[in-house]
Amino acid sequence: MPVQLVLGAQWGDEGKGKVVDLLGEVSDIVARYQGGSNAGHTVRFDGETFILHLIPTGILRPHTQCFIGNGMVINPDSLLEEMKALEERGIMVSGRLFISQNAHLILPYHPIIEKVSEEMDEDNKIGTTGRGIGPAYADKASRVGIRMGDLLDLSLLKKKVSQNVRVKNLILEKVYGVQGVNEERILDSLKAFRDKIKGSIIDARWRLNEEIRKGKRVLLEGAQGTLLDIDFGTYPYVTSSNTTIGGACTGLGIGLRKIDRIIGVLKAYTTRVGNGPFPTELEGSLGEEIREMGGEYGATTGRPRRCGWFDGVIARYAVQVNDVDALAVTKLDVLDTLDEIQICTGYRYRGEGLTQFPSNSRILEEVEPVTEVMPGWKEPISGVREYGDLPEDARSYLKKIEEIVETPIRMVSVGSSREETIWL
Ligand code: GDP
Ligand code: IMO
Ligand code: MG
Repeated sequence: MPVQLVLGAQWGDEGKGKVVDLLGEVSDIVARYQGGSNAGHTVRFDGETFILHLIPTGILRPHTQCFIGNGMVINPDSLLEEMKALEERGIMVSGRLFISQNAHLILPYHPIIEKVSEEMDEDNKIGTTGRGIGPAYADKASRVGIRMGDLLDLSLLKKKVSQNVRVKNLILEKVYGVQGVNEERILDSLKAFRDKIKGSIIDARWRLNEEIRKGKRVLLEGAQGTLLDIDFGTYPYVTSSNTTIGGACTGLGIGLRKIDRIIGVLKAYTTRVGNGPFPTELEGSLGEEIREMGGEYGATTGRPRRCGWFDGVIARYAVQVNDVDALAVTKLDVLDTLDEIQICTGYRYRGEGLTQFPSNSRILEEVEPVTEVMPGWKEPISGVREYGDLPEDARSYLKKIEEIVETPIRMVSVGSSREETIWL
């Protein structure tokens, strides 16, 4: 498969990092297309743990080239920090990382605006990662954003920074009553950033299309998940980019027909960080138990993740929105000790049955999940490498997922390390 896409089919943190890392072994290029350092993609091998935020997870495979697409938003300090941390651990980054000239920058005023606007309306907080993602994408849509390519034209950069700081400081000082930012300091740090990174800024769209034409194996890495998509997620409790299939095309500049395979990653249960509706959420001790067993704490912010049963309605929806043709189911081992496992097959809304995902978040807040109870397998499965060696009840659970989602499972993850994987 020359071009494969890996994306999240729930609310993020499905285990995309592990799946991308595994497929990275047989890829020449790994490209990310949206989001920024709100993402946290975890990979474990040889007893070491790596968490990637901005840099494509493929960087951990020494033979790959990695692309940061035009659809991403980049915090210069985060990028430099991440590059340095990887190089200190023996992962070569320079010469292997290429950044689209059209990717937007996150500047110091973005996280401040996000923080003060979240604080202003406690009742309607999104519960963001605080990385300035929303305000940066807002600037992009408002056509005032500063792009990587702007770093290469100093007088233009100066003008754009000055215009932005003037307006942003008015907003910060007059609307929110907080201190503004310092224009000169921003410009100086951008210049220093440019000096370190300028060799990596390229026309990534052109390069990627050329590589695809030459038959290179390309892996597209999604961040966040379908239900966090700005258009198809649980708006307004979403992130500010298209996490779904269209975002891969617009975020890299490649045509839809170039993508040969679309892999949807699903956790064997459901989690969500931040606010917003979550029909299968378990609020009592069982939810806490799953959180502890699954280590469900945010890879970026450390926040406890909300946990609940597998939701077949959202999974089916994600498959439709993205035209998913293969599923990767992760963290099946987390359910090892449960006596029974519930699986949501539909919703009830004001006494009526719903099998389709309601696009109105207000309705989603009110629905009750309709679940089926399945027996747990009650034995550890992390050592299993062949599908046929899984306990019968675990296979029945996976079959049920395939049946509800109407899509074949091609990979099952039974632990966080590379080898704890079953291929089908
Ligand atoms: P991503 O954002 O989709 O890449 O997912 P995260 O890295 O934020 O969260 C997934 C977490 O689950 C990480 O800590 C992984 O190391 C871990 N993980 C991935 N697959 C498995 C699995 O099959 N079993 C267990 N127990 N942990 C897993
Ligand atoms: P990965 O790639 C899970 C959530 C935040 C919040 C909402 C908006 O690791 O799966 P933002 O900072 O993006 O404006 O926050 O989106 N969120 C994530 N949840 N995994 C992520 O990334 C997320 N990135 C953002 O918690 O609810
Ligand atoms: Mg994550």
